[in-house]
Amino acid sequence: MSRNGKITVSIRQPRLGLDSVKLKLMVVSGKGGVGKSFVTSSVATGMALRGLRVGILDGDVYGPTIPKMLGLSGTTLQADESTGKIYPVVGPLGIKVVSIEFALPSDETAVIWRAPLVNRALEEFLGSVEWGELDALVIDLPPGTGDAPLTIAQKLQNDLDGSIIVTIPSEISRRIVLKSIDFSAKLNVPVAGIVENMCCFYCPESGKTYYVFGRGAGERIAAEKGVRFLGSIPLDPRIGECNDRGEPYLLKHGDSETAKRIMAIVDGLIELYRDKLVGGKRGGARRLLRLPGEGSEGEA
Ligand SMILES: Nc1ncnc2c1ncn2[C@@H]1O[C@H](COP(=O)(O)OP(=O)(O)OP(=O)(O)O)[C@@H](O)[C@H]1O
Ligand SMILES: [Mg+2]
Repeated sequence: MSRNGKITVSIRQPRLGLDSVKLKLMVVSGKGGVGKSFVTSSVATGMALRGLRVGILDGDVYGPTIPKMLGLSGTTLQADESTGKIYPVVGPLGIKVVSIEFALPSDETAVIWRAPLVNRALEEFLGSVEWGELDALVIDLPPGTGDAPLTIAQKLQNDLDGSIIVTIPSEISRRIVLKSIDFSAKLNVPVAGIVENMCCFYCPESGKTYYVFGRGAGERIAAEKGVRFLGSIPLDPRIGECNDRGEPYLLKHGDSETAKRIMAIVDGLIELYRDKLVGGKRGGARRLLRLPGEGSEGEA
């Protein structure tokens, strides 16, 4: 680490085969269990619904959950022994997925590698993946801002375009967000914005909205720190069900209010990175696929 606190990498660091990927975003949070993996899979699914070619790198080496959320548990990566290349598993909507889970004997196998081994294994593993042409790659990081997320984020930092910070609207969210902003700054990765997950619960019976973990903290902190607020996602029991069953929520409940809020976050990101995605052609990234129940108004 240099004296100004920036984490630097050697320019001889091997490239990770991401040159054919236009946009690379990491999903980070200073705390576990706030919904990083759900946000990762939803942003990827939403972008794929908008017609983009999308990949997910499940960077949670110790607790990979992306394969299960996308119904891909038990799948294995294809490798070409003559070239040493590894090919991602292709999931719903053609989303290309790479996870350490695909290389483990079972999804109950615990990874107990220490950091140096993870470092070496990741380098070899990530360096061998043949992503092909992608519009966007969304990277799910392990919880926190310590060794585990740092190890993988450092490998990718020169390639990353932005970080999506996930928080919940409770008192602890201030620390979560500040740590995540600091983590991104030290890696020299610009913050794309903040997503407030589990913002509230809408009770269909009473018609009331309950702010279970407090109200609006993510948006307040975003304003205070001059960081973009990307949007909020309600607590929805169907999200847990879908994740457990391996059915992407956006595909199963695309006509719900929650899905519309997730798609607003996705569209915000597409707009933010429009130049990267389509070389400045307005609206070009928003191709024609729509969510079930979504009208054609607002088509760019
Ligand atoms: N908005 C939501 N409404 C209901 N359940 C949710 C919501 N977001 C996430 N969940 C559920 O909360 C749990 C944690 O979500 P997730 O695994 O995405 O968090 P994480 O931040 O990736 O956790 P970890 O830090 O362990 O990697 C999961 O069971 C998920 O299905
Ligand atoms: Mg996770």
